[in-house]
Amino acid sequence: MDWQKVLAERNTRMKASEIRELLKLLDQPEIISFAGGIPDPALFPTQAFADAMQATLTGPASGGALQYSVSEGYRPLRDWIAGQMADIGVPCDADNILITSGSQQALDYLGKLFLDPDDTALVTWPTYMGALGAFNAYQPRYERLDPHSNRPVEALAEAAAEAGGRVKFAYLSADFANPTGETLDRAGREALLDMAESLDIAVIEDAAYQVLRYDGAPVAPILALELARKGDLEACRTIYCGSFSKVLSPGLRVGWVVAAKPVIARLVLMKQAADLHSPTLNQIATDHVARAIFPEHVARLRSVYAARRDAMLAALAQHMPEGVRWTKPEGGMFVWMTLPEGMDGAELLAQSLKTEKVAFVPGRAFFADGSNGNTLRLAFSCADEAMIAEGMKRLGRLIRAHHSNATPLSVNVTAASVQ
Ligand SMILES: Cc1ncc(COP(=O)(O)O)c(C=O)c1O
Repeated sequence: MDWQKVLAERNTRMKASEIRELLKLLDQPEIISFAGGIPDPALFPTQAFADAMQATLTGPASGGALQYSVSEGYRPLRDWIAGQMADIGVPCDADNILITSGSQQALDYLGKLFLDPDDTALVTWPTYMGALGAFNAYQPRYERLDPHSNRPVEALAEAAAEAGGRVKFAYLSADFANPTGETLDRAGREALLDMAESLDIAVIEDAAYQVLRYDGAPVAPILALELARKGDLEACRTIYCGSFSKVLSPGLRVGWVVAAKPVIARLVLMKQAADLHSPTLNQIATDHVARAIFPEHVARLRSVYAARRDAMLAALAQHMPEGVRWTKPEGGMFVWMTLPEGMDGAELLAQSLKTEKVAFVPGRAFFADGSNGNTLRLAFSCADEAMIAEGMKRLGRLIRAHHSNATPLSVNVTAASVQ
């Protein structure tokens, strides 16, 4: 059968990546990998989940744990999340919260909720490539979101209208972003809210890494700043996407959305249509584990990841040649590197996997327009300090060698499905 003849138009925007092919090579045991933006499995609270699942499945509510349940999500978990949200300046009730299957599902639903073909989504340059993957299915165009720029918003609205749609939302990860590790300061968040007001668009705040702060003062979430302005969550245009993936377990697929009730009601309809609800047992176990260990567990993650971040920054300072720049994140899992002009991250990866056995993610796939090939993302979450020191030494050596005989770009990376 010629599948092309029956495929919907939206599939043209959903492409596999050449990076994915390269990353298949990561299975080789000798590779030191800084590619996966994933938590260290050695830090999962395995025993706490074992206890929670055991207690749930042998207790009086075991039938309910294996049964269908409500699309909004397990009520006690939503109550616990409401308490956490209040602690960060967003008092809300469980009816403002929808449990999703990871925050990735929330991104898909929000794309579906807001985007018609040729509408405009504002995204940072670079942005989380999984968000581009989720939104691409709804055929938007992208414009650069830069809350600190003085670009008049009228120009954005005009360009969107010329393209046949309108600006619908701004999406960003304000804390320790994937891929840059950078945090938007309070002035930037306020400027973003001003911009959203004048364009009359939604703001999607992706808070996947928010609790993983290692130093510096926390910045209030965008939703908290908007709530402080308006005094009523129902009047807020910011939609907050949270996740247990980076802290408790990505495998259980438990995330959440906090928003005004009309938005939650629409998302609930989507969830009903897509998967009815997120897995009941996973939500119950997550509730038990969060209540039992959350603050202590976060403290442990912070201390382990902070040491790895420090090791990476120290090794970069020691081994990188002139002309290489990198970010200094206050939390999260990533350092973002800019290579000298003319070098290409994808080409460097291909070379690195052959000779230095070090893996990372080339940066181009994080840009909506596939630009900025001279960038790459390093994740420090899964390697110990000794591996980080050795890996940065090898990478520094490779970049120095490459830099002295820079070759033209040969790998064209468009999108990828790495976390
Ligand atoms: C910025 C960001 N948002 C969302 C996600 C999706 O995470 P999950 O669906 O596991 O909550 C990720 C995963 O890497 C991410 O980095």
